[in-house]
Amino acid sequence: MSDWTFPKGDLMKGKRGLVMGVANDRSIAWGISQQLAAQGADIAFTYQGEALERRVRPLIESIGMTTMISADVTNDAEMDTAFAQLKDKFGAIDFLVHAIAFAGKEELQGSFVANTTREGFRRAMDISVYSFVDAAKRASAMMPDGGSIVTLTYLGAERVIPAYNVMGVAKAGLEAATRYAARDLGKQGIRVNAISAGPMRTLAMAGIRGGKQLMTTGREWSFLKEDTSMEGVAGCALYLLSPLGQSITGEVVHVDAGMHVMGIPETPEGGSAA
Ligand SMILES: NC(=O)c1ccc[n+]([C@@H]2O[C@H](COP(=O)([O-])OP(=O)(O)OC[C@H]3O[C@@H](n4cnc5c(N)ncnc54)[C@H](O)[C@@H]3O)[C@@H](O)[C@H]2O)c1
Repeated sequence: MSDWTFPKGDLMKGKRGLVMGVANDRSIAWGISQQLAAQGADIAFTYQGEALERRVRPLIESIGMTTMISADVTNDAEMDTAFAQLKDKFGAIDFLVHAIAFAGKEELQGSFVANTTREGFRRAMDISVYSFVDAAKRASAMMPDGGSIVTLTYLGAERVIPAYNVMGVAKAGLEAATRYAARDLGKQGIRVNAISAGPMRTLAMAGIRGGKQLMTTGREWSFLKEDTSMEGVAGCALYLLSPLGQSITGEVVHVDAGMHVMGIPETPEGGSAA
């Protein structure tokens, strides 16, 4: 089991919401869920198909939650059923966490130009970007009193990260979608933001060729000289999803120990390595 610790309190007391993207106890969605639960939130979960149910159920039960709904985001009928079940259970919701992305292993290595196929591109965009738009549409229809939506992105949207390839293009789309959704849903009092997390050791990271090196570089380039912490990412999600995040929308917040600000690597003596 994961060994993170999260502050307890009442910031999310009386708030209900949906978390999409828990696959195991290293998932970013799981860290965020634990933090939200520690602040009193009532959470429903979607998971990707029956294969994951056995892994996810004990996790959510460990934080006192019971609502688990199977939803493959590429399947409209499953999404219809999932949100109908959510409506039956909660009626209205206050927040949505979208922590879902996918690209084929063959696309997450080598040359972006050579390795990106039409089908691979379509699949990455569908699962990693359209699913956010679709979930935001469905969730916002259940937020009569306003709400807050958070998705997860990565620096590969803004800069070239070797091997991140089509996923970088997808994350650029996701960040743009965050801004457009924030504009549309602002009228309903719904805030929409993205967290750009530094490299973290999860299942999704394991699919990227050289993922281990991404972790090492992330640490070395960061100002704090440390890995991105689950506590930091979950804390940021809590801030954006709770009343603390009032007035913040259409934003991409970096939680990466300062790595994204660094221009070029430095030598151990503090000089420029380039
Ligand atoms: N791990 C990192 O270093 C890192 C850094 C920045 C951003 N992110 C982003 O965080 C989010 C969560 O990833 P993670 O690192 O926690 O890994 P993870 O593998 O634990 O989570 C990815 C989730 O996507 C779900 N998913 C994939 N295809 C799906 C589909 N068709 N239908 C429904 N669900 C589907 C998986 O079931 C899984 O729960 C992703 O958007 C990822 O790009 C991760």
